[in-house]
Amino acid sequence: MDNNAGEQMSYWMETAPPGSLHPPLGTDVTVDVAVIGAGIAGLSAAWELARSGRSVAVLEADRIAAGVTGHTTAKLSALHTLIYDRLRRTRGSEGAKLYARSQTEAIQHAAAVADELGIDCDWEDTEAFTFAQEGARVDELRAEADAAREAGLPAEFVTETGLPFPVAGAVRVAEQAQFHPRKYLLALADDLRAQGALIHERTRVEGLKEGEPCRLTTEAGATVTAADVVVATHYPIFDRALLFTRLSPRRELVLAAPVPSGLAPRGMFITPEQGTRSLRTAPYQDGGRLLIVTGEHFTPGTGDAGERFERLADWATGHFGQLTFTHRWATQDNDSTDSVPLVGPLHAASRHTYVATGFGGWGLSGGIMAGRLLADLIDGREPPWSGLYDPRRVRTAVREAPAFLKHQAQVARHFIGDRLSSSSDVSLDRIAAGDGAVVRVDGRRCAVYRDEDGGVHAVSARCTHLGCLVAFNRTERAWECPCHGSRFGPDGEILQGPATRPLERRDI
Ligand code: FES
Repeated sequence: MDNNAGEQMSYWMETAPPGSLHPPLGTDVTVDVAVIGAGIAGLSAAWELARSGRSVAVLEADRIAAGVTGHTTAKLSALHTLIYDRLRRTRGSEGAKLYARSQTEAIQHAAAVADELGIDCDWEDTEAFTFAQEGARVDELRAEADAAREAGLPAEFVTETGLPFPVAGAVRVAEQAQFHPRKYLLALADDLRAQGALIHERTRVEGLKEGEPCRLTTEAGATVTAADVVVATHYPIFDRALLFTRLSPRRELVLAAPVPSGLAPRGMFITPEQGTRSLRTAPYQDGGRLLIVTGEHFTPGTGDAGERFERLADWATGHFGQLTFTHRWATQDNDSTDSVPLVGPLHAASRHTYVATGFGGWGLSGGIMAGRLLADLIDGREPPWSGLYDPRRVRTAVREAPAFLKHQAQVARHFIGDRLSSSSDVSLDRIAAGDGAVVRVDGRRCAVYRDEDGGVHAVSARCTHLGCLVAFNRTERAWECPCHGSRFGPDGEILQGPATRPLERRDI
């Protein structure tokens, strides 16, 4: 396939079995714990809780393991680019050690679960590298290797990586892993159901009333009564603590191309240089390997993905030679202002509601860690790293201030500036087939998409989360909100939260 043509398809979505169908919730139910969101964090939490004897209901707005988890690069690594030197400075050596231990134990736990349940998920033990091609980054890499080693990881600074191009230096961490996330999670969900848990797909939760018990209401009108509630919707759909002020959405593009196994680098790679690139391979047809390249991150709603896919393809072929891309897809992450996920009680007064978010591109090890941590908290245990990840943490507030202010300034620019600007408006007849634009009709801003047959689809341009204006991503054919990353289809249907209501239809 051409790198900028055809439908997007995640390799993980294409190559996993279809999975069992889980019916939408049609009646009221009462359980010990309700888990909202069936990605890796939600399913991991649900599985741990079911194992400890709790009755559990998992409520997923779409299909299980089909959102961010089905579109990740699927690295199970405790080496998160350059986190340890930063943690050493912001959270002290003890904080860095707790981070390393919690992530490492998550990876080991996933290996043990896959083994115990006999899950065929293409598990491969491997190494993780953070590398740079610019000599100016070598000091940072040396500092990171030192900090990661001090944190307890088997880390070292190296100049040889096995990549088919030279690097100035790299941090290498042994004993990491990669797998097929959707195969793993579909099997985990089957086991979860075998333990008596309820799983309901196409069940969008719209309301949460906290109390003893808590009560959830779904779009279809059913209610779930639960002693405890876990919000694992990637970007939290309920947010009394205003976590959205501490989270920045980031979209990232992925391309994949088969390579002969002899040319496939062994390991998982990422660069901290501007325009981050991430690499790994996966088993492919006839004993070959699929090279998976990720990069070109951008804030959703700030432009089209097409040119960015082109740049990523150019980088890949420039470093690996001629490639024929077979898959391309995009994923979305949320960065927390201090680069540490937010996992724990949903807000300061929370007694029975919990959240997991802000994994910053490391949501697989992070999601498994979060699932175990939340199950521990609900079961009354406090692992030593619960304070590190606690969303109520305030100690780092001063250090977070620059990132916080930058994010809020961006949100304010989109919330207020986009309304005042007239430059984003175009006339209806200038919208080409397959494209979309924000158009002012009778004083109201409408998001208008013209389909390939010339039909016009119009919805409100105001995001149903908090009211920012959406923008069209032509290549991905989606309306995207730059404030907190909600995404909508051409007819306004929700593709990605935190919005829980579609864009309103408009007649024009
Ligand atoms: Fe928050 Fe759109 S996602 S305003």
